[in-house]
Amino acid sequence: EKGGFPSFMDKEIHDQPKAVADTLRGRFGLDGRLQLSEMNIDESILKSVDKIVVIACGTAAYAGQVAKYAIEHWCRIPTEVELAHEFRYRDPVVTEKTLVVAISQSGETMDTVMAVRHAREQGAKVIAICNTFGSTIPRESDGVLYTHAGPEIAVASTKAFLSQVVACYLLGLYLAQLRGNKYNDEIQVILSELEAIPGKIEQILEGTKQQITDFAIRHKHEQSVLFLGRHVGYPVAMEGALKLKELAYIHAEGFAAGELKHGPIALIDEGQMVIIVVPSQRGRDSLHAKVLSNIQEVRARGANAVVIAEEGETGVEEFASEVFYVPETTTLLAPLLATVPLQVFAMELATAKDLDVDQPRNLAKSVTVE
Ligand code: BG6
Repeated sequence: EKGGFPSFMDKEIHDQPKAVADTLRGRFGLDGRLQLSEMNIDESILKSVDKIVVIACGTAAYAGQVAKYAIEHWCRIPTEVELAHEFRYRDPVVTEKTLVVAISQSGETMDTVMAVRHAREQGAKVIAICNTFGSTIPRESDGVLYTHAGPEIAVASTKAFLSQVVACYLLGLYLAQLRGNKYNDEIQVILSELEAIPGKIEQILEGTKQQITDFAIRHKHEQSVLFLGRHVGYPVAMEGALKLKELAYIHAEGFAAGELKHGPIALIDEGQMVIIVVPSQRGRDSLHAKVLSNIQEVRARGANAVVIAEEGETGVEEFASEVFYVPETTTLLAPLLATVPLQVFAMELATAKDLDVDQPRNLAKSVTVE
C-alpha cells in the first residue's frame, strides 16, 4: 500500500527512481539503437512530419513544455505545446504531416480525449504518452509510448510527471535517430546520462529531503510564493507553483525568469518568497548569468530568495537565503532532478498545515468531463 510512508504522495515521490528506470527499460534493439515498439506509425510517415503538437492538461502539459525544448533541439522539428481544451476549440492548423503527442497519466482526461479525436479527424497521426494500459487515449491514438510509473494514487502527479518527461526524451531521441540529423552522436551520450538519473534522484531524496522538510515547516504561514525559471527551468517553475497551489492552497505562480522585468517584479516586496531554478553553471553561460542577476534583482527588493542549483554551483550562496542542491546533469535533462525538491516542498508544507496531501480539496485524479 503506502509502503510505510505517511502518504501515497510520499511513497510515489520515492518511487521516482524506479519509475524513471522502468520507463527507460526495454527500449533498445540488439544493435543498441532506440526502438519504440508500440509506436505503430510508419517510419516513412515519421520522417516526413513537419510539425509536432503536444496536447495535455495540468502537470502533463508541463512535461510537454519540457518536450518542446528537447525535441526542437534534437530533431529541428517545430514543436508546439497546447492545453488540450484550448487546442480543441480554436481551429488549429493540423495536417497529415502533423504529429500530435497526447500526454496523459490516466488516459481518460476528457479534454485530452476530445483533442485527440479532433486531431485525428484532421488527418494527423497521434501518439499517446500514457501511464494506464488500455485506457481511452492510447486506444484512440495511432501509437503509444507507455510510461511505466506504476499506479499513481495521490491526486497530485509526481512519478507520472517524471516518467512523462522521460518518454518525451525517448520520443525526441528516436525521431532524431530516425531522421539521421547532426545530433545522432549526442544520442548515446544523452541515453547514458538518462541511465544515471534514477541514482541522482535517490541522492536528492536521501541528501536533501530533511533540509526541505525543515524549511517547509518554517514557512507554513507563507501567503504567496513566486517561482522563476528559464529555458527548461521555466516549466519546472510552473510545475513547482502548481504543486504548491494544489497541495498547500497557497497562491503560487511560475514565471519565465526573463519576464520578471516585464511585470512580475512589481509583486516583489519585503519578505516575498521567490524560488528560483538556476540552470547549470557549465555550458550555457549566458543563461546561468542571467538567472543569477534575476536573483540579485529580487533580493535587492527585499525578497526571500530560495534557490534550486546544481552541486558545484558557486554563484548563489551569497544571495540566497536557502539553497537546495541537486546533482549535475545535462541542461535538457535537468527537469528530472530540479522538480524533485519542489514536489517535496509542496508536500511537506501541506503536511505542516495538516492538509490531506493525497486528496486535496476540489480536485479529482482524473477529470472525465469537459
Ligand atoms: C488534473 C489532475 O485534473 O488532470 C492533474 O488533478 C493532472 O494532476 C491532470 O495533471 C491531467 O491528468 P492526466 O491523467 O490526463 O495526466
